[in-house]
This record gives sequence, structure tokens and C-alpha cells, in this order.
Amino acid sequence: MVKAIRIEGAGGPEVLTIDSVETPAAGAGEILIEVAAAGLNRADCLQRRGFYPAPKGTVADIPGLEFAGTVAGLGPDASRWSVGDRVMGICAGGAMSTHIAAHEGTLLAVPSPMSLTDAAALPEVFMTAFDALEQGGLRSGHRVLVHAAGSGVGTAAIQLIRRAGAVAIGTSRTEDKLDRAKALGMQGSLLVGEQRFAKELKAVGEGGGADIILDFIGAAYLAENIKALGTKGTLVVIGLLGGISAELPLGLLLAKRARVVGTVLRGRSLQEKIDLTTAFESQVLPGIASGELRPVIDRVMPMAEIAEAHTYLESNQSFGKIVMAW
Ligand SMILES: NC(=O)c1ccc[n+]([C@@H]2O[C@H](COP(=O)([O-])OP(=O)(O)OC[C@H]3O[C@@H](n4cnc5c(N)ncnc54)[C@H](OP(=O)(O)O)[C@@H]3O)[C@@H](O)[C@H]2O)c1
Repeated sequence: MVKAIRIEGAGGPEVLTIDSVETPAAGAGEILIEVAAAGLNRADCLQRRGFYPAPKGTVADIPGLEFAGTVAGLGPDASRWSVGDRVMGICAGGAMSTHIAAHEGTLLAVPSPMSLTDAAALPEVFMTAFDALEQGGLRSGHRVLVHAAGSGVGTAAIQLIRRAGAVAIGTSRTEDKLDRAKALGMQGSLLVGEQRFAKELKAVGEGGGADIILDFIGAAYLAENIKALGTKGTLVVIGLLGGISAELPLGLLLAKRARVVGTVLRGRSLQEKIDLTTAFESQVLPGIASGELRPVIDRVMPMAEIAEAHTYLESNQSFGKIVMAW
């Protein structure tokens, strides 16, 4: 038996407990990992509230979409890693456990000086940001609007945009987060009040609409996002913190020849996750290893304080990631 956070019925943070569960078995091509730490994500909160069940084939009541730890055993036909290797990765659930089994192709080596708690803050937000920027066709010189610039994904995206020679312009409802995000390479900042930012964006720096918008807010920002897009711009919808349904101004979309793309990592097939991990390994991991890209961590909390951590995340006060450590 191993220890895990369990969701005991849908509800508030009080439904989270630490329990003993069966040790996960490493199947064909899989690795058993002793988890040192797991990053907390909004998806964990949604799952706790009963709105975002784990995909079929994934443990239903243990949350956690990312982890870092040490290889503890190899399943049949797994050959890429050795016992003792330090690894990190994304998964569809079950990361908030002292042990998890994951396919060897979805794991990344933790660069040597980095701690496992720092590494646990990386996979979900950096892979989401990297993948979303790829879908937006990021190129040097692009103007990229990053909503919730102080979010986990936002703080990763700003660094990737800067590294690509593009211009990151961030929004937040909290002034202090904008100041802190500038230190990550964000070149323009917009304090959002009453969901208005399109006109303001066009006046930032050299001016103009956005080539790419990374959006976590959804419904509340949809109409303004379409206004903020430049010609042939792409709105990448990553999160729905501000609602799930809104009217899309099709006339404006058409006139701008713009695109709206929705994206999610959790529900992707194993092969899609392996492909993303492989691309990330060659294109982003070297930047993490060199220190050019770094996880932004608000705080590390003991796993026993999981309920407090959920409450804190949902209070919108965090800047960067909350990491839960065993
Ligand atoms: N599609 C995927 O595969 C994927 C992967 C990872 C994350 N996500 C989603 O991406 C979003 C961001 O995740 P994260 O972990 O980076 O978030 P986070 O660190 O929890 O930060 C979210 C921030 O968004 C702002 N915010 C919250 N509600 C808002 C609202 N109604 N209107 C405007 N701003 C609001 C708050 O900052 P302010 O101080 O600026 O208000 C909050 O701190 C979440 O919805 C998450 O579920 C999706």
C-alpha cells in the first residue's frame, strides 16, 4: 500500500483526505515512480467539485496532473529509464500519490541541479504554454496577449515568448502580479477592469492587435478577445475561469480572418502525450537545464495541507505555482 490524496465525494476542500491505496502496478512500457512532489492545478479543484472527472482508464478519485520523483521500478518492456533516475511528467490523474505508474515516453529527465519540488512545478504549465504557442504559430516579433499573466501557465508562457523573440503583453486584475511578471520578460502590461483590454492592447509598444492570445478566462473575455486579435490572429482557449459559454462575434472573426482554437492536454491519447513530451524535450528542456527558463513557485506546501492549498489557489492570490510535497 502507498499514500495518496483522495477525493471523497464532490464538494469543498474538506472532501480531500490522505488515505492508503493500492500500490500502482507498472504495466507494459510503464515506469513506477516514487513521487516527491506534485504541482497543484485548477483541474484538481474542478475535479474535487465534481465537474472534471478523470478520463476513462485513469484512477477516478486521486487528483494530480503532474509530478516529479525517482524511478522505483520498471514494468515489462520498459527500457528508457533506470531505477534511481530523477524524472517529471504530466498525467491524466493520480499524481497526488507517493507512487504513480506512467508510460516511459511521457517522462522527462529532471536537469541535475534542479530540486524535485521545483521540477514538480514545471510539466503541466510549461507543456501547456509551449503547446498552445505552437498551435498559435509563434514566431519572432509576434505580439502575444497572455491573460492572467501571474498564473502558472502565464508565467511559463511569458518566458517562452521572450525566448522566441516575440513580445509578451500580459493582463491581470491584480497590479502587483503585473509588476512581478515584468521580471520574467513581459514587455507590456494591462490591468483589466470590467473586462476591457482590446483598445488598451492596441496602444502598447509599437501598437496593433495580437497575433496570438493565450486565454484562460473563456466566456467573460470572448468578445473582447476577438476585438483584440490582429489580422489572421489566433485565440487559443486554454481555460474557462470566467465561464463556459458566450456569443462569438462571427462578423469580426471573418473580417480579421482569425482563428479560435480550443485545447486541452488531459484528454489526449497516450501517443499525443508522447509526441508532445518528445517535442518539449528537444525544444524546451535545454532552456530549463541552462536556467534560461525557470518554474515560478508561489509556495511549497506539505501534502497534509492539501485542503488549505486548494483554498489558497481558488482565492486567486497565488503568483505562479503551488507545489505539494510528501
Ligand atoms: N487546456 C489545458 O490543457 C490546461 C492546462 C493547464 C491549465 N489549464 C487552465 O488554464 C487556466 C490557468 O491555469 P493556471 O494553473 O495557470 O492558473 P492559476 O495559477 O490558478 O492562475 C489563475 C489566475 O487567473 C486569474 N483569474 C481567475 N479567475 C478569473 C476571472 N474570472 N477573470 C479574470 N481572471 C481570473 C487570477 O489572477 P488575477 O489576479 O489576474 O485575477 C488567478 O490567479 C485554468 O483555467 C486551468 O484549468 C488548462
